[in-house]
Amino acid sequence: MKTQILSSTKSDIEIAAEILRNGGTVAFPTETVYGLGANALDEAAVAKIFAAKGRPSDNPLIVHIAKLDDFYKVAREVSDVAQSLMDKFWGGPLTLILKRQECVPDVVTAGLDTVAVRMPANEIALELIRASGVPIAAPSANISGKPSPTAFEHVKHDLFGKVDAIIDGGSCDVGLESTVIDMTREVPIILRPGGVSREEIEAVIGQVDVAAKIESHDTPISPGMKYKHYAPNAKIIICDADKMGENVRNQSGKVGVLTFDEYLGEFSGVNNVLSLGSINDADSAARNLFGKLREFDMLDVDVIYAPKLPENGMWAAVRNRLYKAAGEN
Ligand code: TXA
Ligand code: MG
Repeated sequence: MKTQILSSTKSDIEIAAEILRNGGTVAFPTETVYGLGANALDEAAVAKIFAAKGRPSDNPLIVHIAKLDDFYKVAREVSDVAQSLMDKFWGGPLTLILKRQECVPDVVTAGLDTVAVRMPANEIALELIRASGVPIAAPSANISGKPSPTAFEHVKHDLFGKVDAIIDGGSCDVGLESTVIDMTREVPIILRPGGVSREEIEAVIGQVDVAAKIESHDTPISPGMKYKHYAPNAKIIICDADKMGENVRNQSGKVGVLTFDEYLGEFSGVNNVLSLGSINDADSAARNLFGKLREFDMLDVDVIYAPKLPENGMWAAVRNRLYKAAGEN
């Protein structure tokens, strides 16, 4: 398949919008990660997303809109509490699970009675959705199971030749996916930590639940929870940041180290050491994580040592992605 590389000029966005209207697929930047979009109301178009990513068909997609009020086009019975989250955090990295409208095809929701909706903050994404005139279904624009793409090069690496177009919008600000919160329950429950923290949400609507880790043999609340995620080729081993030096020196094979600026001194003379930034800066760790995991693939290491992470604020999302990437290690 021929893949057009587009820029974020008005005329290129119009070309991308035309592709979407005609049932094609376009990868585009958002403030979280790049998404792979298609017209959410066009079943055949959405099916192309699953094919390009190799995504299991029982994992539903997020529908992206460009105007606050447009959620009515895909969702119904939206509570005041849900509305207050939209008012506060849209456009931004928060996805709401709401009751779905009939017009949303099963291929988007994996047959569920709910639909995931988000209004991004990225100007290119918003212009593309506006220009297309339809809601856009979009998962992260990576091959299923790989780290989500936070730069144009990542998308090109994974999807060139598999999608109709890719818009080059530079690097993503947040670097991790949106927070997913199910608003159809008595007490809202965070299914995936992300760009808006639990603390920020609770400051607006009071206490929420957080989905516990779900084992693969259980029925997950969010279908996405049961799949392998964000994995680089190498095995990841999590250990205390300040004890890593010793472990690394005793490890056989080609070793990679993921650490913080503050610990770089401990690894002088060690190869393949990458930093997430300062240990005091969760936002920069979020922005860097997926790109660093992809860098380890390029370095072709056999094992990656990575640090234990805190659980508060934005760290919860960084920790969730790193630990998932590590599987059970
Ligand atoms: O930041 C993001 O959310 C990015 C950008 C492109 O917007 N998108 C993204 O999509 O991360 P994806 O498909 O990689 O993750 C969507 C998550 C999955 O875990 C999926 O299972 C969950 O949302 N999800 C979607 N619809 C759902 C529903 N109706 N009920 C429960 N979970 C749902
Ligand atoms: Mg994804």
